[in-house]
Amino acid sequence: MTAERRSVVRGVGGYLPEKVLTNTELASMVETSDEWIRERTGIQERHIAAEGETTADMAVKAAEHALKNAGLDAGEIDLIVLATATPDYTFPATATIVQERLGVRQGAAFDVHAVCSGFVYALATADNFLARGQAKTALVIGSETFSRILDWEDRSTCVLFGDGAGALVMTAEEPQSERGVMQTYIRSDGRYRDLLYVDGGPSTTKTVGHLRMSGNQVFRHAVGKISESIEHVMQDAGLTADDIDWFVPHQANQRILDSVAKKLKIPEGRVVSTVARHGNTSAASIPLAMSEAFEDGRIQPGDNVLIEALGGGFTWGAALIKF
Ligand code: ACO
Repeated sequence: MTAERRSVVRGVGGYLPEKVLTNTELASMVETSDEWIRERTGIQERHIAAEGETTADMAVKAAEHALKNAGLDAGEIDLIVLATATPDYTFPATATIVQERLGVRQGAAFDVHAVCSGFVYALATADNFLARGQAKTALVIGSETFSRILDWEDRSTCVLFGDGAGALVMTAEEPQSERGVMQTYIRSDGRYRDLLYVDGGPSTTKTVGHLRMSGNQVFRHAVGKISESIEHVMQDAGLTADDIDWFVPHQANQRILDSVAKKLKIPEGRVVSTVARHGNTSAASIPLAMSEAFEDGRIQPGDNVLIEALGGGFTWGAALIKF
């Protein structure tokens, strides 16, 4: 048996739609206030896709940005794993639309569906294909248009989410490479699916549906489950909190981020937070935040980057990457 290859990050990209929706604007749509939203979530504004702008459109822009950063041509891609809960169509997979638009004529493209944990699931999936030698160059994308599944009259959910996309380009490198994905860990427990779900679908209501959430119950589970997955990957990698250069969590809520960082003793200065400006962009939030920290020079080659997420299902997980 040949040794497993290392999945090395070669480029990171992000895309945010032009339109910004502020808390103050939201307060003219539903009974809420800038103060309430900031205090409970840390969110100040979020981006909203333009009319006709889709999950695939944003995914393509993020992918092109990541490929440019990597200095690689789309023709080299032989695997696209796209995480989304808001696909362009019920089928085909949004990943195949992205594949066509990028001009990729080889390999495979498919979607993974784990809602807010989608990017961790997509990274774990791509890592396995690369490690086994079944693909050489992968695009791992998170892209969401949650604005299209929100009930804009429900103040308890519509203030939390935004649209956007992020992408990583990863290549399979020699097993002895220092860099690469060190550990991934994914979990789910369907007993919790009624706490965060969309009340429609092709096989039930034949409609798209709207997001429904028991916010405080989700909050209650989030910190414990996220911390457990982080402890799992750190232990398997033989690392402690001191070895983490950058913590790039799923951007759900500043209070969840702060509680997890505190529990794991990760200093505030090493936490990448974009929740104030992006809101919760579900599967897009981690690669979008990563893209910002990569572009502004915070994340450097060789840095240990920790990611985590929890989402509908529940699904949750974490991963450790040496950039
Ligand atoms: N503006 C003003 N008041 C509001 C709003 C709003 N936008 N939304 C709810 N309220 C009111 C409620 O009606 C309630 O009023 P009442 O006491 O008169 O009944 C009061 O505020 C408190 O409501 P709670 O839901 O208990 O508020 P809580 O402090 O739990 O905060 C929140 C709500 C922000 C949703 C919080 O529970 C949370 O962040 N949960 C995590 C959910 C999450 O992040 N989900 C994202 C997907 S999963 C993930 O990504 C981790």
